[in-house]
Amino acid sequence: MRKIRTIGKILKSKPTIEDAMDAAALASIKIAFFDAKPYDIESFEKATNNSGFKITFFKSHLTTETAALTQGFQVVCVFVNDIINKDVIEILERNGIALIALRAAGYNNIDLKTIFKKIHVVRVPAYSPYAVAEHAVALMLSLNRKVHRAYYRTRDNNFTLNGLLGFDMFGKTAGIIGTGKIGKVMIGILKGFGMRVLAYDSFPDKEYQKNAGFEYVALDALYRESDIISLHCPLTKATYHLINEASIAKMKPGIMIINTGRGMLIDSKALIAGLKIGRVGFAGLDVYEEESDYFFEDFSNKVITDDVFARLLSFNNVLVTSHQGFFTQEALRNIADTTLENIREFFTEKKIPNEICYQCSINSCQRNTTGKCF
Ligand SMILES: NC(=O)c1ccc[n+]([C@@H]2O[C@H](COP(=O)([O-])OP(=O)(O)OC[C@H]3O[C@@H](n4cnc5c(N)ncnc54)[C@H](O)[C@@H]3O)[C@@H](O)[C@H]2O)c1
Repeated sequence: MRKIRTIGKILKSKPTIEDAMDAAALASIKIAFFDAKPYDIESFEKATNNSGFKITFFKSHLTTETAALTQGFQVVCVFVNDIINKDVIEILERNGIALIALRAAGYNNIDLKTIFKKIHVVRVPAYSPYAVAEHAVALMLSLNRKVHRAYYRTRDNNFTLNGLLGFDMFGKTAGIIGTGKIGKVMIGILKGFGMRVLAYDSFPDKEYQKNAGFEYVALDALYRESDIISLHCPLTKATYHLINEASIAKMKPGIMIINTGRGMLIDSKALIAGLKIGRVGFAGLDVYEEESDYFFEDFSNKVITDDVFARLLSFNNVLVTSHQGFFTQEALRNIADTTLENIREFFTEKKIPNEICYQCSINSCQRNTTGKCF
């Protein structure tokens, strides 16, 4: 079979007759796109231009109630707060969905064990580690120098400095948990501030460590010595509530905790308890355990019924952003391009490099030899 040119190449060069045939083949693929926000629609419409894919955008999340909408489609495209559980999988399978294309790197919202051998799943493993790392640093600097409070103060013609005292980042110790793509960018940025960087990873990259000027240490040492801890590991059974009462007790009093990873890495109630006694000095949270109830939606005319979330929002040393770490122009462009390329590869190639299954994470997946997870 002649290889269809990548979407990027079709878009960058003058379309040929072969491209027109390719586009016709791709046009028969119907994609149901859930949780479509205006910026998603804009970036995907730009990326699909000329490629032929037919995308139907649904504003709603993919749930057991909305899964019925997938009838007549071959592909379902979802984001981090679309929950693909056993019930949803059953409906998708009944409707003949062949592929779930995740517009994200993390995949903890998909029941990978149940979906195995039923529906293939692809993701966007990297779209801009810089976007997330830079946002984590934005949270750090805002909390340290209290920019979020200074902004409101000066707008009220209050030009006093009381309560806005920060600290030099230079010379302080940062603890990075997870030294993958985002963690590595973080290390580079924080080294630029002149910080001492410690890191923990269950699969340390010793080769990278050689020239990067940081030190791998055990988790307890990282907790004990860090002034700022930033989470960049995935959510797994091992990392669920990694930050809890016991780990907070091991940290320096006044610790700054930054979480741009996943909400459930932190036990929110333990974090609140730590904040109340000053054990935790600052928390920068781009993710929250129950964020799917609130994040990406406008609640300005409603009330927050989640008391834990409301309490977190009430602290002046807690800065919450609604999962916007990924949200840069470059990342949106990469997400759209990679997602469409993943879909094209699924229908036209033997190998799907961005496929995932539950066996990938335990390193016993057949994809390395056969090209697909099943
Ligand atoms: N806030 C956002 O908008 C946003 C965007 C993208 C990714 N993320 C989150 O950031 C996380 C990291 O992304 P990435 O691209 O750097 O992923 P990555 O896969 O490149 O790196 C993850 C690292 O975590 C390590 N790890 C795995 N289990 C661990 C454990 N138990 N303890 C310590 N380290 C462990 C891995 O070995 C790996 O080095 C993602 O899993 C995702 O949850 C958030």
